[in-house]
Amino acid sequence: MTSQMEKIVSLAKRRGFVFPSSEIYGRLESCYDYGPLGVELKNNIKSAWWKAMVQSREDVVGQDASILMHPKIWEASGHVEGFTDPLVDCKSCKKRFRADHIVKTDGPMTPQWMKKNFEDKKPKCPECGGELTPIRKFNLMLKTHLGPVEDEGTTVYMRPETAQAIYVDFDIIMKSSRKRLPFGIAQIGKAFRNEITPGDFIFRTREFEQMEMQWFVKPSPQTLSQEGEGRVRGGTPEEWFEYWKKKRMQWYLDLGIKKERLRFREQEKDELAHYAKKAVDIEYNFPFGWKEIEGIHNRGNWDLSRHSEYSGKDLSVMDEETKEKYIPWVIETSAGADRTALAFLLDAYEEIAGGRTTTTESAKEAETVLRFSKTLAPVKIAVLPLSKKEELSSVAKNIANDLRKHWTVDYDETASIGRRYRRQDEIGTLFAVTIDFETLEDKKVTVRDRDTMKQDRVAISELEKYFSNKFK
Ligand code: GAP
Repeated sequence: MTSQMEKIVSLAKRRGFVFPSSEIYGRLESCYDYGPLGVELKNNIKSAWWKAMVQSREDVVGQDASILMHPKIWEASGHVEGFTDPLVDCKSCKKRFRADHIVKTDGPMTPQWMKKNFEDKKPKCPECGGELTPIRKFNLMLKTHLGPVEDEGTTVYMRPETAQAIYVDFDIIMKSSRKRLPFGIAQIGKAFRNEITPGDFIFRTREFEQMEMQWFVKPSPQTLSQEGEGRVRGGTPEEWFEYWKKKRMQWYLDLGIKKERLRFREQEKDELAHYAKKAVDIEYNFPFGWKEIEGIHNRGNWDLSRHSEYSGKDLSVMDEETKEKYIPWVIETSAGADRTALAFLLDAYEEIAGGRTTTTESAKEAETVLRFSKTLAPVKIAVLPLSKKEELSSVAKNIANDLRKHWTVDYDETASIGRRYRRQDEIGTLFAVTIDFETLEDKKVTVRDRDTMKQDRVAISELEKYFSNKFK
């Protein structure tokens, strides 16, 4: 792990953002728990996504489907057949490896690549030098059983993507919400993959959360027109693909991610998932390289056609004007809440050698600031009485309780004020309200801004208005 990752992993654990699951039992590999600050951060990410993708649009509706679904869905979707990783086993030491961990590649593991590097070159086990088995396909879906009997007939899959529930509910949602194409259905929820090589903290795990939106559109060319605030109606799948690409990139920028750390990368034809006609990833420049945080996919009519075929339910729609029937195409935007949380954490992280102030006992120590945006900061305001004395703490607690009605507030009365500012900076708290002995006289408090460290003296009676303006 790079040193920046080590610092983030350590901070995340020490301050209660994210830490390994089941640690008192020796932990469960690749599973993580979000602590008090982590759950606030992740909830803020998910709410920002929901607001941008559902609540602020009249053409996208939401859904929250069950994780366990009819097993035939995964046959229809192609996941039973095609959602696999290539694996080899060592015949001597019995260790199992993903093919690209034996022969490194940055590109896709195509059949040609596998033939050239494994069938022809016959590499040896990297652990013991033993002979390797031919490549086998390993399905990444996790299975479980419903009911008291565990046999083939009771197998169900833990969904590997949230998208499929949207396709199978497409018809009922379209009709019940009286939507007409083009429109979208969005969902946030858990997905599971039995990844062979999980790693890089919460970047690749076996249980994770996705934020997905499926945009249903007519396949034939239509004229683009602008309506309302630059909204595109009609439009071809290709035009909508470009529209959603831009929208999704802007979402990360609006939430403060540095522009130079984001880029688009179009997938090569032989990298594409079995359902995709075209895929462009939004990549973040992680300490371990440029990696995907979100995919924008043109899925054509693959999913709805297959579900029509496998379920027997016709999922085509009728064009009101031409009376022609067609299966809609889908443009998908698919982001990972956990991967995105890692990108936001890394992007916000700043270490200032020697600290920003020299007037406290904590001076000269390196100082860490998480520069989260207003929307994402897990704690918005810290309330810090200068002393623990009852006359100050009672005023401070009242202020904290009032502010807590609107924003997330942390109350802290231990250690020197310099130390407390640093603790708050380290978790990205936006403002600190200090209550001092003068407060008892002039009924005013000092508000310190995390980034500028500028201090304002504000009347207690004006505090709510002051912060309402700040959080507008
Ligand atoms: N429905 C399309 C789909 O699932 P994907 O590219 O496989 O596409 C979309 O996944 C996003 O889900 C990724 O960009 C990533 O953010 C997240 N994701 C996928 N696998 C993950 C894993 N093992 N751990 C954490 N996040 C993951």
